[in-house]
Amino acid sequence: MLEMRAAVLRGPEPMVVEQVELDGPEASEVLVRIVACGVCHSDFHVLRRARAGALPIPTVLGHEAAGVVEAVGSSVHTVEPGDHVVLAFRPTCGRCPYCVRGTPQICERPDRRSRSAAGKRPRLRLAGQPLLQGIGVGGFAEYTVMPEGGVIPIRKDVPLETVCLVGCAVTTGVGAVIYTAHIEPGCDVAVLGLGGVGLNIVQGARLAGARRIIGIDRVAAKFDLARQLGATDLIDASSENVLERVQAISGGYLDYAFEAIGRGETVRQAFEMIRPGGTAVAVGLTTEEVTLPGMGLLREKKLVGSMYGSASVMDAIPRMIDLYCQGQLCLDELISKRRPLEEINEAFADLQSGAVARSVLMIANR
Ligand code: APR
Ligand code: ZN
Ligand code: ZN
Repeated sequence: MLEMRAAVLRGPEPMVVEQVELDGPEASEVLVRIVACGVCHSDFHVLRRARAGALPIPTVLGHEAAGVVEAVGSSVHTVEPGDHVVLAFRPTCGRCPYCVRGTPQICERPDRRSRSAAGKRPRLRLAGQPLLQGIGVGGFAEYTVMPEGGVIPIRKDVPLETVCLVGCAVTTGVGAVIYTAHIEPGCDVAVLGLGGVGLNIVQGARLAGARRIIGIDRVAAKFDLARQLGATDLIDASSENVLERVQAISGGYLDYAFEAIGRGETVRQAFEMIRPGGTAVAVGLTTEEVTLPGMGLLREKKLVGSMYGSASVMDAIPRMIDLYCQGQLCLDELISKRRPLEEINEAFADLQSGAVARSVLMIANR
């Protein structure tokens, strides 16, 4: 058992960094010392739901983390102590029907539910009581224990406090474009929501050769960076009629729309703005009901869900990092602010106000 610092969410009050206990790795698990962890909107989603009583507490959030392997269980073969790793918030088992059919992003490993939901097998404890790991990682802490399938070895010549973003935003966003939608060069796309995930959809679309990339957000401060990453047109949802503007820009012929906000209403907007036969991709974490105009279905419009960018993380994460090293993907530009773990509540406030593209919490110096 290890004693360490973690940011604990106990209820409506601000999170507090305190001492917690972590059980060492079992045979198929890996102990990772976390160096940095990005703050993603999904964490905020869990925080809000937990504070409303819809999800169990206490919990440690954070699922966009990178670090160094400290110890491995006896049956672990893919990593060893000292390896640099990015953590994947949906560990894969490699054996279930989804994994073997090439869709590991929807892996149904039998122990998943027990790890994340009711915490039947919690690795973390707070004064002897079970402490949950918010989205499968518990990255706002000095260490975590993960199943081998969630620990992705990466090259050592990249800063962990930057490539942690590949653990969620980059893989989710770029993956939605190239693995979920498989867009064609020359197509026209729109991106609803220009946060950490949406900006990666923008740069994924640029990478894949889109012609027009229409960025949509209600905070105009996001537009400069979106333009820098490849957006050709920008729409301010707080003051403009989004559907009319998309219609005018695309001539009514928009091929793809990606929703990266997580609202039923904006998923519908994405569906409404695409051309007959086009594809709307729901990337954001939406728990609300989604209603669609049925006529769109008769026009062969498609709405597809995207989990973790439909990526095979073992393959996709090192690949995205190589694209960063080649200058094809921008990561440094996406990190507006780095803060010590103690400033976690300030980082969540920035996320909520839309003040940052991404904040990264620094957990250890390295
Ligand atoms: N119309 C347009 N833009 C909106 C709207 C709206 N109605 N509501 C919010 N936005 C913008 C915000 O201004 C912000 O720029 O959406 C963006 C969301 O960005 P972040 O808060 O940084 O969220 P991010 O981490 O990118 O996650 C986006 O993907 O993984 C999921 O759970 C996550 O659902 C969330 C989504
Ligand atoms: Zn995320
Ligand atoms: Zn599986």
